[in-house]
Amino acid sequence: MRKIVAVPIGCGHYLPKRQVNNSEFERTIDTTNEWIISRTGIESRHFADPSENTSDLALKAARMALSDAKIAASELDALILATATPDQTFPSTATRVQHSLGMNKGFAFDIQAVCAGFIFALSNANALIKSGQVKKVMVIGAEIFSRILDWSDRSTCILFGDGAGALILEAAENNTKEIRRGILSTDLNSDGKYNDLLFVNGGVATTQTSGFVEMQGREVFKHAVSKLVSTAENSLKAANLSTKDVNWVVPHQANSRIISRTANIMGIDMNKVVMTVSNHGNTSAASIPIALSCSKQQNRFKSGDLLLMKAIGGGLAWGSVAMRW
Ligand code: COA
Repeated sequence: MRKIVAVPIGCGHYLPKRQVNNSEFERTIDTTNEWIISRTGIESRHFADPSENTSDLALKAARMALSDAKIAASELDALILATATPDQTFPSTATRVQHSLGMNKGFAFDIQAVCAGFIFALSNANALIKSGQVKKVMVIGAEIFSRILDWSDRSTCILFGDGAGALILEAAENNTKEIRRGILSTDLNSDGKYNDLLFVNGGVATTQTSGFVEMQGREVFKHAVSKLVSTAENSLKAANLSTKDVNWVVPHQANSRIISRTANIMGIDMNKVVMTVSNHGNTSAASIPIALSCSKQQNRFKSGDLLLMKAIGGGLAWGSVAMRW
């Protein structure tokens, strides 16, 4: 049966130059390098220069992805950008990147699902491709969380970093039963009753400020582990696959303990789990595409490998995507 599949054809990432080690926080707040590493696995993160905006980070990741895919921006039909830290309230950061890239057709829009944003964007890109509306889509996750951190709150400011990652998907026709490459299944969820566990205490309609991150860390941790396991199982089941089929887990990089606990419950060996959190911190919607691009640079994935991507963030919003590389 003729089937349209969204196949990955290129990826890229960008991390701002300024790398900040845990020791910098020891000078300004009551914390230690040992505490941060033991509770989160984070050793350093990158922070954007004051002159850089989210669209600047996204643009660099997008250009690297275009070069990796060996296509021009003018060949893209759509650009979807996941961010919780847009340049402006409107228009979308996606349209700024569209213009800067020289993408002169199609459409661009932002998606907001905080740390799960890339999974939501990927799922939407997949749906647009499968419906036949577009052939080539750029999916970006880009964040400057350093602009919404309260530097006096030691339980949140040590967790996050800035960065951007991009993945390009292309429609491919698959006439055989066996799907060798591309997105196999997606699973999206949200539940607004958990708003107060992880949120920003400002907004256009409420305070007319952008606000700062607030979090009940321990509660978020518990929800993260159980919900990441259930969404991962859902997308594997939807693709008629099991954890034994997984070659690589590419999880949202929030905390190494969440990542290892989740892998442990699912019976997945940590050798199959991509971990970048130690050097990047939690880059929210950017963490999965950055991890994909770094893994590609290291030649870790083989064509056809089954990748399981999963993420959770404020909302709560969570989801997963099973994709053959
Ligand atoms: N340095 C030193 N001590 C710190 C600290 C820091 N940076 N941050 C918090 N603490 C202290 C707390 O004040 C508390 O002290 P108290 O017992 O005197 O009150 C103690 O450490 C324990 O706090 P708690 O919040 O229970 O710690 P925890 O073991 O749960 O670790 C997190 C805190 C934030 C690392 C952990 O809850 C976590 O990772 N949660 C998930 C967060 C996340 O990933 N969110 C994003 C999801 S997208």
